[in-house]
Amino acid sequence: MKFTSLFALFASAQAQEWSNVYPNAADFLFGVATDATNANVMHSTGGVNGVGGVVVYTLDGGQTFNGTKLPSALGLSMGIASDGDDIFTVGFPSSAYSHDRGATFSETPPSPTTNPLLSQAAASDSGAFYVTGMLLGGRNGVSRSTDGGETFESFVIDKDSISTIARYGSFVGDTWYVTGGTWPADEDVNKDKSERMLTKRFTAEGHYKPQMKRGDGDDDGADSTFVAEIAKSTDGGKTWSNVFEDVGNFYFNGIDCLDSMTCVAVGESDADSPDPGSRVWSTTDGGQTWVENFKTSDPQESLFTAKFVSKDEIWAVGGNVSNRQFLGRVWSSTDWAEKGEDSSWADVGGIDNAWLTDIGMAGEDGDAFAVALTIQSTASVFKYTAA
Ligand SMILES: *[C@@H]1O[C@H](CO)[C@@H](O)[C@H](O)[C@H]1NC(C)=O
Ligand SMILES: *[C@@H]1O[C@H](CO)[C@@H](O)[C@H](O)[C@H]1NC(C)=O
Repeated sequence: MKFTSLFALFASAQAQEWSNVYPNAADFLFGVATDATNANVMHSTGGVNGVGGVVVYTLDGGQTFNGTKLPSALGLSMGIASDGDDIFTVGFPSSAYSHDRGATFSETPPSPTTNPLLSQAAASDSGAFYVTGMLLGGRNGVSRSTDGGETFESFVIDKDSISTIARYGSFVGDTWYVTGGTWPADEDVNKDKSERMLTKRFTAEGHYKPQMKRGDGDDDGADSTFVAEIAKSTDGGKTWSNVFEDVGNFYFNGIDCLDSMTCVAVGESDADSPDPGSRVWSTTDGGQTWVENFKTSDPQESLFTAKFVSKDEIWAVGGNVSNRQFLGRVWSSTDWAEKGEDSSWADVGGIDNAWLTDIGMAGEDGDAFAVALTIQSTASVFKYTAA
């Protein structure tokens, strides 16, 4: 794919709720940042083969898109967050910021003690950017910037709180939640060790393998089983505690918190797990108790992230990803808090040939932008227009 195609213009004329507003926007897109106060703005980050990290964005509700190549230190970019004119994107092994809504990016200057080193997750809260992942020295942590992504301060997460890899975070004032987890290594995918796995089925280079072989039960390494963890801090990252741990069944991806007590996290596992499938877990008491609101038993079901659409409604997004076809999932529930394990979920996605990697709510009327991988190894931008 030529980078010039990022500058192509597309009209979003379709009337259905989900429309593909930018087909084949890049080779892969992984993160979405939207603006709660302006439904027209969406930034997404990912990569184009032969070009490197890119940000694809619209300022007019998806009618036209521009693309910006990221500084070459960002081989690839996985996570993105926005705060008005400030955009921050994090990749491997660097990050970049923009103060002009994505038109130009500068690399965040490397710093041995504070910068995020490896991350696939950026978030924003009250004027700060947060990055979850690995800090220099290999420790898990969160980095926070209060100057639009130019400099960071880091907060280590101790091994007792997350024993595997810190993955995604959600931040509400001084209350921070971080998901962690790991999965058994797959020989086929990990043959080329230079590829970093973002999930069990997806590498940082944009390669994926929807369905893995069935496991033979061999335990042959430290990371040879599934682990799902959640850590919480109530003092702005100074101290942490573990509030969720499951060994053997799945790992967590994204987490979203409505307030300091109420969070939803999504997890998944493939056929190597004794209990495969996608799942949604939530808490309404600050992580003291967690409820599994939703579970599929299909190893082809994947969930990347969840979002509060409103105080009552959760969306969990991903896809049913067989080797032959993808079906983009947006599982929705409004009775999850009231019904717990018996809550009802409807698929308001059902988007053909899409494996949704991230979603962001745009504005206050229920519109959303999502990005998806296709079976042809390209990535597209979708828009949801609330009825
Ligand atoms: C895209 O870039 C062009 C040229 O820099 C600019 O004129 C236009 O306003 C931009 N459009 C958006 C949606 O940012
Ligand atoms: C996922 O897709 C496969 C292949 O189309 C299908 O057989 C399976 O039933 C789907 N799973 C669910 C939970 O819908």
